[in-house]
Amino acid sequence: MIPINRPIIGQEEKDEVQKVLESGIVTNRLGEGPMNKAFQNELSEFIGVKRVLTVSSGTAALHSALLAGGVKNGDEVIVPPFTFVATANVALLVGAKPVFADIEPRTYTLDPNRFKKAITKRTKAVIPVHLYGHPADMDPIMEIAEDKGILVIEDCAQSIGAEYKGKKTGSIGHIGCYSFYASKNMTTGEGGAVTTNDDELAEKVWMIRRHGEKEEYQCQMLGHNYRMPEIEAAIGRVQLRKLPSFMEARTKNARALTEGLKDLSALELPIVKDWAKHAWYLYTTRVRKEKSPVERNDLMKKLSENGITAAAYYESPIHLSPYYVKTYRYKKGSFPESEKAADEVMSIPCHPAVTDRDLTRILETLYRLLKQQD
Ligand SMILES: Cc1ncc(COP(=O)(O)O)c(C=O)c1O
Repeated sequence: MIPINRPIIGQEEKDEVQKVLESGIVTNRLGEGPMNKAFQNELSEFIGVKRVLTVSSGTAALHSALLAGGVKNGDEVIVPPFTFVATANVALLVGAKPVFADIEPRTYTLDPNRFKKAITKRTKAVIPVHLYGHPADMDPIMEIAEDKGILVIEDCAQSIGAEYKGKKTGSIGHIGCYSFYASKNMTTGEGGAVTTNDDELAEKVWMIRRHGEKEEYQCQMLGHNYRMPEIEAAIGRVQLRKLPSFMEARTKNARALTEGLKDLSALELPIVKDWAKHAWYLYTTRVRKEKSPVERNDLMKKLSENGITAAAYYESPIHLSPYYVKTYRYKKGSFPESEKAADEVMSIPCHPAVTDRDLTRILETLYRLLKQQD
């Protein structure tokens, strides 16, 4: 079975883990043992940002960013409804209300005009998501946000390596949040990082990571235990060194898929804006209802029967998930672009472990299943 994504861990990671275990330093009460310190510095150089704080997950990174930004009860946080639910849940975790603004249909990222329309007096933060590894259109988002004094938190969970107009994601907004979950372009198993050029925000995240303490037992603000273990940081350092070769393989595979599928009218293929470098976390097509002989979910099932994993990220936009319907009474039709995307998207494997033979199999199978209408 060709998986949709999988961690690629080699002997180098195992050797580094062994060294950490032998050192006896498996964690550090400040979250900054030697491996975490080095990982933070290397990430900050790679992303081109002044400060990086490693944390225990992408969700922890987003939650810390909102806490550091002072977002609280009664505030509103604007998020796209077409993303992983963590992006909206973190607003609820600080007592704020997630307010949805629809996406731009070709890049699946926050539409700056809809963001502008969703702003109220209560808006404190916005979280653009660089979905699938394609950056959101950050310039207009920053312009609108800075005009209104809104904190911009980039959700970079899916975008390590991606660039917007030559700048790495996570170095453009006021604060950026990465995830190193197992499926991501580089992984530490679970894990995350907060990035910022703002020393004050960085100091707050530093405290939040260890229960708001600056000095031992002197809690200054509400925080959590969001430290990253040393073993994870050691794995992350090796993965970061391998990231350029992972990115090259993803880009090569994405190009091969686009070249191979371009004549298949049943599929709409992903685009790359001329200002973007895509990280290709996911290669996401749309199955065009009017042109496809097979319905999207049946197509995914048939691909699975042929040993190919295809997946719909995300089958339901957040506002139509049961918890949000129950809590906020959202109805179908509230965010049409996100709902349409949820009905149509289908991601197919493009990760570095996909071989040329796998690519041929993916292309041949899709042609066999979809060609008859052309
Ligand atoms: C867009 C997005 N935001 C946030 C997260 C949360 O990251 P984590 O799973 O590391 O908590 C993810 C991860 O899956 C994600 O894809």
